Amino acid sequence: MDLQQFAQALNEFDNVLITDDKGCAIFYDLADLNILMEIGLTPDEFFHSTVTNNYQNLSPETSTVFKVLQTGQPILYYEQQLTTLNGFSYLSLSSTYPIMEQGKSVGAIEFSKHFYESKQIKYLDNFLGHKLYRDNHTTYRLEDFITTNADMKEQLDKARRSAKKNAPILLTGETGTGKDIIAQGIHNESERYTKPFITLNCSILTEDNIFPQLYGSENEEKCGKLQEANGGTLLIDHLNLLDASLQAKLLHAVDINMLNGESLDIRYITTVNEDVDKLLVEKRLREDLFYRLNVLQIDLPPLRMRKEDIPAILDFYIQFYNEHTVQKNVSYRDEVLQLFYAYHWPGNVRELKNALESAYNNLTGNEIRVEHVPERIKKNIQQPAHLLMQVSQSGHLRDLTEAYERLIIAEKLRETDGRLAETARRLGISRQLLKYKCLKYELL
Ligand SMILES: Nc1ncnc2c1ncn2[C@@H]1O[C@H](COP(=O)(O)OP(=O)(O)OP(=O)(O)O)[C@@H](O)[C@H]1O
Ligand SMILES: [Mg+2]
Repeated sequence: MDLQQFAQALNEFDNVLITDDKGCAIFYDLADLNILMEIGLTPDEFFHSTVTNNYQNLSPETSTVFKVLQTGQPILYYEQQLTTLNGFSYLSLSSTYPIMEQGKSVGAIEFSKHFYESKQIKYLDNFLGHKLYRDNHTTYRLEDFITTNADMKEQLDKARRSAKKNAPILLTGETGTGKDIIAQGIHNESERYTKPFITLNCSILTEDNIFPQLYGSENEEKCGKLQEANGGTLLIDHLNLLDASLQAKLLHAVDINMLNGESLDIRYITTVNEDVDKLLVEKRLREDLFYRLNVLQIDLPPLRMRKEDIPAILDFYIQFYNEHTVQKNVSYRDEVLQLFYAYHWPGNVRELKNALESAYNNLTGNEIRVEHVPERIKKNIQQPAHLLMQVSQSGHLRDLTEAYERLIIAEKLRETDGRLAETARRLGISRQLLKYKCLKYELL
């Protein structure tokens, strides 16, 4: 294989495996531990076993690595359904080359890419971020945040500017609005990006474990979050779920900023997913701690306030799934988008992703239709008038009426599987008039 082929293979595929002459792994792109989790092996186990031992359905006769080692000939663009020891199955596309020394194959190099079933969509989340950032416990950059909304873009700019400073940041936003992406993105945009990004999950802190969590525990030989985050960023996640009495202890730790007689160098990012004013009034958030942690504040608007982001987010994820699942060219019907515009998304982008995932699970062809959308969403859409306000251009009565007419026709067409004559009969209009309206509303 020449250099050019090598570079091309690196671009085309996701994974690189190098084996010795016995088919034993000697190099694997371990930036991606997810693949090993898939196989169900620890890195140590993986490097001591031959490739055929890692899959239920791989033998020396069917293994590309073994065949290449035997014949000394490359096998290019080979497709194979693989089932790992713990029963995980996926389609693998690979190109395998022998490594030759004096006319003998002394090893093999295999480039591969995996395609998953649509049932496995959730699992793909592990591959969304950037492998290289996994070393500092992050996967996101600020660029990964999808938005076309002006208010949100302003908040993103603020995040980008704040990243360079060292001041504590408070991130507010309802559940599922993307606070994790922003927090990690800030870390990776700051000068601390080579240092760890550590999360302190406030929802699990109790009177008994708050000190060990912060400072570590000697008898368990575990170091605390403060030490782990030293030099980097500590994400104080879901502060609103921390009992007010424990907030005093957290404040103390942040104020002292010392560990074992040495001062700490930590950038604090705090998230809350409830209204800050309400938390303060109800005394669920201590004012002193709030002022300590909130020097810069970034507020993520809920998805219902930026519904124009819905198609951008759907398109991004569908394209990603199209590239990584066996189900190619998936698209969605316009009515699905209209339905999504009409819904209020209390779980924000997380809920939108879940809706997409369940649509994939119910999918038969490659078009997402209203019938694939979870019932909960269909049952809870807003009043038609609200819905139409979102869909129509101007809010003028004529536009609203037309938008409504369009929805009715689209729905009837769906019921009749797109049969014009039947749709016209059900709507009590002529076929010609229906055709005219379908063309006008781009429904055909
Ligand atoms: N703007 C966005 N673009 C792409 N993906 C997004 C966006 N916002 C959120 N997501 C995705 O939605 C899911 C939820 O986001 P995230 O975990 O950041 O929410 P959160 O604000 O931290 O919520 P919580 O308060 O429940 O912790 C994640 O899978 C994330 O990747
Ligand atoms: Mg979060």
